[in-house]
Amino acid sequence: MARKLAAGNWKMNGNRADLDQVTALAAAHRDPGVDISLCLPATLISEAATQLANSPIIIGAQDCHSAQSGAHTGDIAAQQLSDAGARDVILGHSERRIDHDEKDALIRSKLIAACKAGLRPILCVGESLAERDSNQTLERIGTQIDGALESRDSLPCGLVIAYEPIWAIGTGRTPSLEQIGEVHDFMRDKLGARYGDEDADSVPLLYGGSVKPGNAADIFAVSNVDGALVGGASLKEADFSPIITALSMS
Ligand code: 13P
Repeated sequence: MARKLAAGNWKMNGNRADLDQVTALAAAHRDPGVDISLCLPATLISEAATQLANSPIIIGAQDCHSAQSGAHTGDIAAQQLSDAGARDVILGHSERRIDHDEKDALIRSKLIAACKAGLRPILCVGESLAERDSNQTLERIGTQIDGALESRDSLPCGLVIAYEPIWAIGTGRTPSLEQIGEVHDFMRDKLGARYGDEDADSVPLLYGGSVKPGNAADIFAVSNVDGALVGGASLKEADFSPIITALSMS
């Protein structure tokens, strides 16, 4: 069985003053019974990791470069994130695929870099509304998973996969529970075909896209949903806490 994981993605939000939300979350979940990860802007990682040194909450990042070091102005290497205190890194988020034209081959090389640096990759996949409407969802998810894992004969370092339909992110819309289940079953089967059932079952499969306290319990009841990747509702302890509690009770 995969471990349950409630992961937050702060995106380009938050200043040092907002770390009070992180410490409040740590105070509310000293023994959460599920894994909790907060993927923060790079500027906050070091301070948050220091403040959470005695907490089970994991601090993560939102992207890394594929190279270990070098002349890449403005970029951050996986090893630098690790050095700052990050243990997770989100890769292939649709906002990076769109804003920075990231393709599956680049995401694959970032995944390799993350593993080398000892970071756990949270690989994001998801279809556009046009792909959903034209029945191409599973094909799109399959291509993204194959592209990121190409020619790997063993499961990458603690891999987590998050299914995030692009049209559900920040919109208040979510797929039906049946649609979420269909994609998660597909992802589990796909991993099983690649790596065998035992390894496939160990991969936490998260759902992301407008997860809120009000819909979290229903989503967590769907088969093969092991947690969530939460954007807006992870910014405030008062919103993220009930989602974590719903996961721990699922
Ligand atoms: P929202 O929860 O704000 O829809 O964002 C989801 C997301 O993109 C998490 O990575």
